[in-house]
Amino acid sequence: MAYETIIAETRGKVGLITLNRPKALNALNSQVLADIVAAAKAFDADDGVGAMVVTGSEKAFAAGADIKEMQAKSYVEAYLEDFFVGWEEFTRARKPVIAAVAGYALGGGCELAMMCDFIIAADSAKFGQPEITLGVMPGMGGSQRLTRFVGKSKAMDMVLTGRMMDATEAERSGLVSRVVPAADLVEEAMKAAEKIADFSLPAVIMAKEAVNRSYDLTLAEGLRFERRVFHSMFALDDQKEGMAAFAEKRKPAFRNR
Ligand code: HXC
Repeated sequence: MAYETIIAETRGKVGLITLNRPKALNALNSQVLADIVAAAKAFDADDGVGAMVVTGSEKAFAAGADIKEMQAKSYVEAYLEDFFVGWEEFTRARKPVIAAVAGYALGGGCELAMMCDFIIAADSAKFGQPEITLGVMPGMGGSQRLTRFVGKSKAMDMVLTGRMMDATEAERSGLVSRVVPAADLVEEAMKAAEKIADFSLPAVIMAKEAVNRSYDLTLAEGLRFERRVFHSMFALDDQKEGMAAFAEKRKPAFRNR
């Protein structure tokens, strides 16, 4: 399927989405939103796909929401269309989504990366929430997700000063899971996604759902939820296969059931 602002392709069992508005440093306009949501939905529904990677260019993952598109918006327009609510659709993907970030991930770009399940950063990556410099504040989840990733003090620092964080600081702060050389970024992210895609898909989806529930639930409720999902996994053929393969010292052959 061809899109206007992204390239979506399947490589093995991985769906790769590459933002492709180089002249605007991959600024996220309404077409990018429509394209990314459509591509993620298509990969989620594709039985041949087990995980996704979202990436940008060497210079920019995405330099933010498209400032030129939104600058003339009135309050009532923003309110009535519930501006940015469409991104929630992207976060409904059930299969894991890895953000592979090189260069600028600013404003909505940083927020898009944080909507993914985890972030692998190139050593060139720069993260920031510079909305305050435009007379506004984060609007695609930055005030909430960044705080959960890096804690209040650093989130306040980023959101109130608009300063950027380099890859080293981002890894130290827990924003990204690992940092790799820029030249290897997509390959490393694809390797991680391929690894996930080779596991049992129902087990992967259940594990993702359980980790995400930790955001919404108390520890006691979360532990209960985890245990119940864990119990249900004994109904999977893949649980029997995975454990039998371990006992028989062979590689498991998961069948996603
Ligand atoms: C629209 C953008 C853009 C953006 C860059 N461009 N970022 N267009 N929206 N967010 C465009 C520039 O206008 C320029 O177009 C082209 O991309 C190249 O950018 P330059 O500025 O010339 O590149 P450079 O000098 O290398 O600087 C890179 C940069 C800078 C530091 C990333 O572009 C920058 O500061 N961008 C804005 C970052 C930002 O504030 N993001 C947050 C947006 S608000 P032309 O046509 O001139 O070549 C947001 C959430 C809003 O994300 C939520 C609240 C409602």
